[in-house]
Amino acid sequence: MSVDQWSERAQAYVESDAHRSGEDLDLLVEWAAGARRALDVATGGGHVARRLREAGLEVITCDPAPGMRADVTCRAESLPFAADAFDVVACRTAPHHFDDVRAAVGEMARVSSDRVLIVDTVYMGEDVEEAEVVRDPSHVRNYTEAEWRGFVEEAGLRIEELETLEHAFDFASWLARTGCEGAAAARAESLLGGRVADGKLTLDKLAIRAVKGA
Ligand SMILES: C[S@@+](CC[C@H](N)C(=O)[O-])C[C@H]1O[C@@H](n2cnc3c(N)ncnc32)[C@H](O)[C@@H]1O
Repeated sequence: MSVDQWSERAQAYVESDAHRSGEDLDLLVEWAAGARRALDVATGGGHVARRLREAGLEVITCDPAPGMRADVTCRAESLPFAADAFDVVACRTAPHHFDDVRAAVGEMARVSSDRVLIVDTVYMGEDVEEAEVVRDPSHVRNYTEAEWRGFVEEAGLRIEELETLEHAFDFASWLARTGCEGAAAARAESLLGGRVADGKLTLDKLAIRAVKGA
C-alpha cells in the first residue's frame, strides 16, 4: 500500500481486533520493563505505544503514513533520531511491509541505546506469501526465523530471547481492511487452506528481544 492508502485505512487499524490485542503486546510490555524512553516504529493504530505508555514509558511514535497521526512521519529505513536516543525501540507487525528490512533493523539498532524488540509474521510457505499479496499487493515478504536472526545480528544486536506465537483473528475483517473481496478473497482463502477455520485465520509470529553489544 502507498502511504495514502495506509492513511485511508488508518481508522481500520486503530479499531482492528487483530492489532488491538494479542499475547505479543503483553510480551513487548514485559520485555520493555525497566526502560524509560521508547520508540514505536511503524506505529499504525498506536497499539504498542498505548500499552507502553500504560506501563509508564515515555513513547515517541513514527510512521510514514500521515493518516496514522504518529509523532514523527518517517520510514523505518531512515529514522530521524540521534544514535542511542531511546532505551527501547519496538516494531510490531510491520517489517513485512518494509522495502528494505535490513536498513530498517540497522536504523532501529542505531537509535536504541539498549533494546530492540521486533514482532512480525513469520514465513509460513509460498502459499501464504501468495495469499498475503493477493490480499494486499504491497506485502513484501514474511521472513524465516533464520533470516530474522541474520538481520538482527548484521545490525550488531544480540538475540536474548526469541519466541514463536500463534495469532488467531477474524478472517473477514482481515480481508476487509485491505478491501479484498470476490474472486481475490476466495483465492486467498484457498491458498491459506487449514489456517482458516471457524471464521478465524491463524498466522505464526516471531517475537525477538535483542540487545546492543556483543
Ligand atoms: C499493520 S500496520 C502497523 C501495526 C502496528 N505496529 C500495530 O502493532 O498495531 C503497518 C504499518 O507499517 C507502516 N509502514 C509501511 N511501510 C513502512 C516503512 N517502510 N517504514 C515504516 N513504516 C511503514 C504503515 O504505514 C502502517 O502503519
